[in-house]
Amino acid sequence: MIQTYKQIKITAFNGSPRGVNGNTNKMIVEILNGAKEVGAEIENILLSEYNINHCIGCFSCWVNKGNRCRFNDDMQLLLTKYYTSDVVIYGTPLYMDNVSGILKAFIDRSIAIICPYMEKDNAGEYRHVRSKFFKEPPKFVVVSNGAFPENSQFQVVAHYFNRLARSMDTEVIGEIYRGQGLLLALPKHDENRQIIDNYNTILNRAGRDIAEKLELKDQTKRELVKPLVPYDVYIKNIERYWRKVLEG
Ligand SMILES: Cc1cc2nc3c(=O)[nH]c(=O)nc-3n(C[C@H](O)[C@H](O)[C@H](O)COP(=O)(O)O)c2cc1C
Repeated sequence: MIQTYKQIKITAFNGSPRGVNGNTNKMIVEILNGAKEVGAEIENILLSEYNINHCIGCFSCWVNKGNRCRFNDDMQLLLTKYYTSDVVIYGTPLYMDNVSGILKAFIDRSIAIICPYMEKDNAGEYRHVRSKFFKEPPKFVVVSNGAFPENSQFQVVAHYFNRLARSMDTEVIGEIYRGQGLLLALPKHDENRQIIDNYNTILNRAGRDIAEKLELKDQTKRELVKPLVPYDVYIKNIERYWRKVLEG
C-alpha cells in the first residue's frame, strides 16, 4: 500500500522590532531548523519587515469581497500564509509583561478572516463560528524571551495565547519561554557560549517534536525551562554591564 504523507507546514510570525538580529529570531531559527530536518516545510516571517497598519475597527473586512481590509498593506499576503499553515509559531520578545506591539497589530488584523457569527464551544462559552478560510485552524506554538530570569514573567503571554487559541477554535501545542534571554546574544567566542549552544540543541529538538508529534515531549519541556545560569550570577552580570554603560 502506498503511504500518502502530507508535509506539515510551519510558519513563524516574529513580532520583534529587532528582526533578524533579535533574540526571538535566534530561538525561532533553531526550532525551524529542527522541524525542517524531519521534513517540515518552514517559513520564518519577520513582521518588522512588513507593512502592517493597526486595525481601526471598521469591520469592512467582514463585508468586503474576499474579506479584504480597507488597508492595502501586507496583511493580505501574511494572512494567506497564516491560514494555509498547519502550525503557526507566534514569536515575541516580552514587552512590558506582554507581546510586542508589532505582534499584537498582526493578531488584531487577523480578525479579517474570522466569521462574524457566534456559537458555543464545548465548555459552553461563546466564540466565533469557524471561518471558511480554515479547513483546520493552525495550531499554535508560542516562543518568547525576556530579560528577567524567571518563567513566571511569561504568565500574561501564556494566558493570552491560551485564550486566543480557544477563540480561534484551535490549541496551543507548545510554549517555549526563555528567561535570561539576553544570554542568547552571547558572541560565538564568549567563554560561556557553550551554554547557549546546548540550549540551541534543545530548541532544535523542540522543533523536531512539533513537526513529528504536534507536541513537545515531556523531556524536551523539562530541559527547555532549566535556567541557563544561576539567577544571582545572571543578575550580577547585568548590573556590571549597566554600571559600566552608565558610570563608565
Ligand atoms: C519596550 C521593552 C519592554 C520590555 N519589557 C520586558 C519585560 O516586561 N520583561 C522582560 O523580561 N524583559 C523585557 N524587555 C527585554 C526584552 O524582552 C529582551 O531584551 C529580549 O531579549 C528582546 O528580544 P528581541 O531581541 O527578539 O527583540 C523589554 C524590552 C523592551 C525594549
